[in-house]
Amino acid sequence: MLKEMITDQSNQQTPSYLLIKGLVRKANDQSIVGRLDDPINWSLPFSPPGWLSQRQYIQMVRNLICGEEATVQACKILQSRLGPGLCHDFLETQINDEIHHANLYHQYLDLLADDIEPSSGWHDVLEKCLNSHTTVVELILAFHILLEGEAVFLQKLIGDYISCPLFADINNKIRNDEARHVAFGRIMLPALSAQLSVSEKKKLMLWAEDIWFASARALVAEYLDPGAVQPDILDQTLRARWLQQEEILMNLGIS
Ligand SMILES: [Fe+2]
Ligand SMILES: [Fe+2]
Repeated sequence: MLKEMITDQSNQQTPSYLLIKGLVRKANDQSIVGRLDDPINWSLPFSPPGWLSQRQYIQMVRNLICGEEATVQACKILQSRLGPGLCHDFLETQINDEIHHANLYHQYLDLLADDIEPSSGWHDVLEKCLNSHTTVVELILAFHILLEGEAVFLQKLIGDYISCPLFADINNKIRNDEARHVAFGRIMLPALSAQLSVSEKKKLMLWAEDIWFASARALVAEYLDPGAVQPDILDQTLRARWLQQEEILMNLGIS
């Protein structure tokens, strides 16, 4: 039904169709992939933060790459499930974006002169989202709303605490692309959730909560030494952030 909603000729004037068409046009105009020259100023100072160990910093960049690569896989699965049409075209622009983002982070990682595996907890969450039973609505919720939304939030936060001018330049340049990907999720999710029953929506919210907490705990574990923060304070902090995410999902029809 979703495929028809987006691709049916008679629906080509619906708000969803027009909004996604606008995103495709913007992607072709603005995407850093579409630029002929390298958009990053690689001559900017490279200065990893002193408050993270070298290993933690490498792990953080490695986890970003892992997220970009998993999103490429999610987009390819969505393309195969939705078939040719406008969503397929948008996802093609996103695949190109994410591949380019991963390449930029790889180039940055090369400057750190070392590499390590992504954290196993984070990798496991991504694999869980990508398994063959994950539905279209779950994929869009996980990759376009939860993970992209947190990536945009974290990029702003990282900008406040990591003062490496080169890393800031990379994140600033890819932020527009990521915002476009979140916008796609925010257009698609209400249309998809409208097709779900009340119990299906409840189940979807529980699935989202499970995925969100598993990702947050896996990523936080990388940067906090055991005992650095009391477990109840960490739980309260994560719970407060989840409630913001839950509200976003409710506003998008998952309630
Ligand atoms: Fe990305
Ligand atoms: Fe993205």
